[in-house]
Amino acid sequence: MSTAFDAGNGKITVPDILGRKTSTPSSPNQSSDRGGSDRRKIVCLTAYDYPTARLLDEAGVDVVLVGDSVGMVVLGYENTLPLTVEEMLHHTRAVRRGVRRALLVADMPYGSFHGDKDEAVRNAVRFVKEAGAEAVKVEGGERRMELIAQMVEAEIPVMGHIGLTPQSLHAFGGFRVQGKTLEAAQQLLRDARAVEAAGAFSIVLESIPRELAARITSELRIPTIGIGAGPECDGQILVLHDMIGLSLGHTPKFARRYANVDEAISHAVAAYAEDVREGRFPADEESYHLSSEVRERLLAIRRS
Ligand code: KIV
Repeated sequence: MSTAFDAGNGKITVPDILGRKTSTPSSPNQSSDRGGSDRRKIVCLTAYDYPTARLLDEAGVDVVLVGDSVGMVVLGYENTLPLTVEEMLHHTRAVRRGVRRALLVADMPYGSFHGDKDEAVRNAVRFVKEAGAEAVKVEGGERRMELIAQMVEAEIPVMGHIGLTPQSLHAFGGFRVQGKTLEAAQQLLRDARAVEAAGAFSIVLESIPRELAARITSELRIPTIGIGAGPECDGQILVLHDMIGLSLGHTPKFARRYANVDEAISHAVAAYAEDVREGRFPADEESYHLSSEVRERLLAIRRS
């Protein structure tokens, strides 16, 4: 688990992400007073394994999230609820081995922070200690205030997550855009303020109206990371498999496709199958050979 923290080597840290806030309540649309000069939007993506983590990191992604979406897009669960801490640790370790520069955030899975708060902090510590995460993400607003504060107290940076929080699937009655009524919008504003007040260093806003996300972004001092929340957020995140065309289920309208990896895999597999069946694979150049001496001696040995 090698992460290099020397100042100036390009490693993205939690303070770097805080410093990327594009505007603050006191200075809208200008640089905030946190020092540093990098006000570019924060680029975040999910990764669940070593090769994709490495590719994302080398492409300059700022934050790599081992999202609990792994349960659906990689493990084939119907939703994120069955995912366990052990499964998340396993994927986080793999991603850790591929990430050197980006900030590595691990999602706390459903059930790992919903009961006893001390146990929740112990679970969060495992992501840092056993898997090399630099921060954890916790779904929920006001009702997570105490828990987030306790994690921060334990030196664990926390990324909040409000709006369409997939772990609330049953409470919401489905995957629905949140915050559309005045009351719901006001509740989300309270949730965002609570997450910030509890000490989170950033907050994901998922599937909420653009105008509401813009309002939250302009009110908070911590960066907002949008997913289906419009362009005014301080950063954006997508599920990698949605944006490369490798999610086999429904994808939401905000998940812009940048590649068709599903088609590339299908074509490659069909071509391979045909080559095997037709005897075209492997070719002689893809085979190993005996030296002529060994070949001759082998031929000379009679079958017993
Ligand atoms: O699990 C996940 O991938 C997420 C992001 C989409 C924010 O929570």
